[in-house]
Amino acid sequence: MTRFTFYDLVQPLYPLVDVFLAPQKRRMFEEIRDFAPGVLLEIGAGNGSHRQCLGTTTTLGLDLSRRMLQQARRRNPPTFLAVLGDGLCLPLAQASVDAVALSHVASVVADPGKLVSECLRVLRPGGRLWVLNHFTPDSCLGWFDRLVRPLGPILGLKTLFKVEDLPGLEAFTPLSDQTLGAFSYYRLLSFSKP
Ligand SMILES: C[S@@+](CC[C@H](N)C(=O)[O-])C[C@H]1O[C@@H](n2cnc3c(N)ncnc32)[C@H](O)[C@@H]1O
Repeated sequence: MTRFTFYDLVQPLYPLVDVFLAPQKRRMFEEIRDFAPGVLLEIGAGNGSHRQCLGTTTTLGLDLSRRMLQQARRRNPPTFLAVLGDGLCLPLAQASVDAVALSHVASVVADPGKLVSECLRVLRPGGRLWVLNHFTPDSCLGWFDRLVRPLGPILGLKTLFKVEDLPGLEAFTPLSDQTLGAFSYYRLLSFSKP
């Protein structure tokens, strides 16, 4: 796959975005560390930042962006295996991973429902799914998301994004739902595969 993606273009600027995402990502990785998966699949792993607490957990860091993956590979131990691929068509067998992490990728992919069904397919029974994302709240930030909605295609994401936009989650057992960040703009959801 040699396609040059939007995230290849913005990769040098991504650390600026990371400043806002760091605290929530650290929280997610701490929860994953406590679960201690044998194999973690991180879909849309991006530049692989803020995952130090995972230590040497074997991680398949899958992303469409070659440049983001190059940076992720540089900053992580060899147990981080960079995989150039599409989260909507995972190159993995059924029930082959213990945990899946979706950090700020659910609102970026073209078909969030397909992303969820791929997570369900590759997770083993009892495996865990974490979804970290902005979810449009009912507060004034909801208006902000609506206002900037036309910028979505330029920014490569859906600004207006609700949990209902992730169909298929009902196949999982919900474990936790935490609101994080200023104005509770971010949510960290976790699930178990029955
Ligand atoms: C907003 S960034 C999030 C990166 C990182 N997870 C984080 O939290 O900082 C979205 C990432 O998802 C990747 N991505 C977008 N669509 C994808 C797809 N269909 N399959 C795999 N990765 C994808 C992009 O290349 C980008 O690196």
